[in-house]
Amino acid sequence: MKIGNFEIKGYAALAPMAGVADRACRELCIEFGAAYVVTEMVSSKGLTMHDRKSDSLMMLGETEKPAAVQIFGCDPQTMAEAAKKAAATGCQAVDINMGCPAPKIAGNGGGSALMKDPDLAARITEACVKAIDLPVTVKIRSGWDENNINAVHMAKLLESAGAAAITVHGRTRKQMYAPPVNLDIIKQVKDAVSVPVIGNGDIVDPESAKNMYETTGCDFIMIGRGALGAPWLFDRVNTYLESGIIIPEPPIEERMEIMIRHISKLCEYKGDYIGMREARKHSGWYIKGVRGAAALRQEIGALETMDQLHAIAEKVIKASVTN
Ligand SMILES: Cc1cc2nc3c(=O)[nH]c(=O)nc-3n(C[C@H](O)[C@H](O)[C@H](O)COP(=O)(O)O)c2cc1C
Repeated sequence: MKIGNFEIKGYAALAPMAGVADRACRELCIEFGAAYVVTEMVSSKGLTMHDRKSDSLMMLGETEKPAAVQIFGCDPQTMAEAAKKAAATGCQAVDINMGCPAPKIAGNGGGSALMKDPDLAARITEACVKAIDLPVTVKIRSGWDENNINAVHMAKLLESAGAAAITVHGRTRKQMYAPPVNLDIIKQVKDAVSVPVIGNGDIVDPESAKNMYETTGCDFIMIGRGALGAPWLFDRVNTYLESGIIIPEPPIEERMEIMIRHISKLCEYKGDYIGMREARKHSGWYIKGVRGAAALRQEIGALETMDQLHAIAEKVIKASVTN
């Protein structure tokens, strides 16, 4: 798939996920075959006010190519300024968040609130397109609620405003993240615009990846929660889409080794204190569903050191052997 002037070789992107899909997580997913990554959403206000945390969210690793930096906000001028800062990071595209349901974002007019104001959404897109030389892409939902499913109208307006690709999460803002995902609306958007459409929502295994492609006719797919604690999902999806073969999940020893590598990267990029605290949720995802996991929840919740993480990994491996 081509977005503007850059090509994405492969089948699936890692979705932007605030507080989760940071550099460590993205690099690991790339290692397992994610063909495109998008940063956590970054506040346009924060960027224009030179907030250090906002700047740090945009930092890309050497292997993160192609990558987009995602920005959010509701003021066209501020968004255009933020797009310039985002474009200066070395990313290949700037993505605009028009799907976040969180009250902190939507309550201030950004994220999914823009689904209620398509004209403003188009003006923001146009301002960003004019401000930078890179492609500007947009991530939307199916609509605000079941009575306002307007993804097709939005997508057409955004395409006219210069959007180079549109990701559709097939849920309304009201649905938040609860199933089911509406694949039909993604298909309708695909049929309505000529820029690439990226299908997103509930891709959790090779079969659901194939189903997203086949049911919607989308140009590319984006995986979020399915890759948490399971970056190898990209490899499984790629193999299935290429050859029809379903490869199994890695054995538990390998999964624990990947978890440790992930958390080591996290500590390297964020320091041990923050890294180990953030490790608690990632480790929980890595051991989800494995034998003996429930008994380790408390230990994971109190994680403070890499030694403790190694001990947990050993217990998980032992439990899987003895059970
Ligand atoms: C923890 C979390 C954080 C998220 N943060 C963002 C974000 O920063 N920007 C965005 O556009 N979407 C965000 N999303 C939405 C995902 O990108 C994706 O659209 C959604 O999870 C549906 O895809 P999935 O079913 O594959 O998870 C987030 C989702 C989760 C679960």
